[in-house]
Amino acid sequence: MKKKIAILGSTGSIGKTTLNIVKKNKKDFEIILLTTNKNIKKILKQSKEFNVKNIIVTSNYHFKKLKKININKNLKIYNSFKNLKKIFKTKIDYSMCAISGIDGLKPTFDMIKFSKNIGIANKESIICGWSLINKEIKKNKTNFIPIDSEHFSIWSLIKNDIHKIDQIILTASGGPFLYKSKKFINKAKPEDALNHPNWSMGQKISVDSATMMNKVFELIEAKKIFNLNQKKFTILIHPKSYIHAIVKYENGLIKLLAHDTEMSIPIFNFFYHDRSKKIFSKPINLTLLNNLSFSQPNIKNFPSLKVLKSIPKNDTLFETILITVNDELVKSFLKNKIKFNDISQHLLKIIKIKELRKYIYKRPINIKEILKTMNLSKHITIKFLKKNA
Ligand SMILES: NC(=O)c1ccc[n+]([C@@H]2O[C@H](COP(=O)([O-])OP(=O)(O)OC[C@H]3O[C@@H](n4cnc5c(N)ncnc54)[C@H](OP(=O)(O)O)[C@@H]3O)[C@@H](O)[C@H]2O)c1
Repeated sequence: MKKKIAILGSTGSIGKTTLNIVKKNKKDFEIILLTTNKNIKKILKQSKEFNVKNIIVTSNYHFKKLKKININKNLKIYNSFKNLKKIFKTKIDYSMCAISGIDGLKPTFDMIKFSKNIGIANKESIICGWSLINKEIKKNKTNFIPIDSEHFSIWSLIKNDIHKIDQIILTASGGPFLYKSKKFINKAKPEDALNHPNWSMGQKISVDSATMMNKVFELIEAKKIFNLNQKKFTILIHPKSYIHAIVKYENGLIKLLAHDTEMSIPIFNFFYHDRSKKIFSKPINLTLLNNLSFSQPNIKNFPSLKVLKSIPKNDTLFETILITVNDELVKSFLKNKIKFNDISQHLLKIIKIKELRKYIYKRPINIKEILKTMNLSKHITIKFLKKNA
């Protein structure tokens, strides 16, 4: 029987990689829903190619534009995730949640009750709303699989283990500036930061990789998903990105997980976690295995790592502040309004602003509260940027 699936954020990097897997295995899938924010040209093309009957376009302007130009009467076009009830009469088999940013939180949360298996790539929703998502997953008996490669690797390593975890190492490539001089980094342009040596990703996550903020986010994500103390995690630079996670158990055993730097591997394994199919992959790369080369990240080169000291033990609204402030700073950098080094320097200052500090101990009660905190953090960051322009 075909797997009924939905792809949230189908026009993005993860969305397109997911569709490539579907394309290679068309007989196995029926796509029920695709979604985009603005990219109506792409989603229309995708809906035709994969014979999809439902799409969501969240930007009002683009939704209206698409309604005018669409000639396919069988295609239902919606402009909000409030319509999920109309689209899904019963639970579908797999949902891939790959919207970027906190905007992905509510759609991800809403998809849980309509999905037997949910793959969450949208790290922001896990970081800001894990306690709410986890509760909804349990309530609806939905199977959750993390898609971010490091988390997928940890999940793969520990899923059948009964031994207690002693330590987990998250590997970081070090991004495009690992071997660059301070002078170069000071003058770095967006195109330099987007030039990732190993991964091809969306713009925001590529800049986060260059500042190492992505690893800060991944550590928070991992500590929440696997319900472990932050002290159990270590970040190590591993420039070749061949090993994605290392788990050491209390019984002395150490497990490493390696795979090529392609998001298609965790995504393929999400859809085929029943092991019913073999993926086409390259042979083991001995040159990489013989040159793993791990090292401690230098905090002087990656000042964003200082944030790790401020992360609260439990779920709080601080994570929403961190994500939002960083998001605004990255947007500013991509528009050439601030320098690359300003991202981490401003971030460390803004999170200490009194109006925001008070949220450090406040648990998120619902999504509305998270979105309210997001708006406040945005406002404070924009004010800070104007003052420091
Ligand atoms: N790329 C990777 O390799 C990778 C790896 C691990 C984790 N992740 C995580 O996966 C998520 C997606 O990353 P990505 O690189 O695929 O991002 P991306 O290329 O920027 O794509 C984002 C997708 O979300 C849609 N979107 C953006 N804002 C939206 C909004 N307000 N409402 C509804 N849809 C919206 C976009 O639509 P438009 O096309 O209209 O903009 C697009 O389809 C992120 O959370 C990222 O951190 C990515």
